[in-house]
Amino acid sequence: MPNAIRMMKDRQKAMFSVLLAFRTIARRAMRSDGKADFTHLKSLLEYLDRFPEKLHQPNEERYLFKAVLSRDPGLSRVVARAQRDHAASKGYLVRLRAALKDWEDGVEGGLAQTAIVADDYVRFARRHARIEERDLLSVARNVLGQAEWADIERVFGAAADPLAVSKSRQECTTAIRKLSNLPA
Ligand SMILES: [Fe+2]
Repeated sequence: MPNAIRMMKDRQKAMFSVLLAFRTIARRAMRSDGKADFTHLKSLLEYLDRFPEKLHQPNEERYLFKAVLSRDPGLSRVVARAQRDHAASKGYLVRLRAALKDWEDGVEGGLAQTAIVADDYVRFARRHARIEERDLLSVARNVLGQAEWADIERVFGAAADPLAVSKSRQECTTAIRKLSNLPA
């Protein structure tokens, strides 16, 4: 497997673990007293905003999708769909932030809405990863040359996602807290 694809998968894994952590906290709060550490939840959203949404997805579009398209223009519909998914993904983040604010402000239904949107976001991100793998990466593996993979790898490597390089749960927690300038 090209190293760039491995890096992409690591970043996807990091995104899923943050999303799942968020969803778990919201679900747990629903089953208990409705309280949560909002500072922590906001730092999870901060991660999703700064890395998957503002860095990885634009990098995929600018480098990976572009390279695949130049090799196989027949994939334009597949690429357009993946780009639409990226735009939609940002919408989930916006809705999740709004729901979290309602929850924190004590607005009725805020917690339930947070749990629902978090679940939708997880499902959407999973489906996107599955379709990207099936329709795009499977082709990329066959059509891209070594120089193109090296370029993509360099870009992904430069993005320095603090979670994709974290090796343990503790390292992940520390990296997330650092994003919000909290003491580790
Ligand atoms: Fe993507």
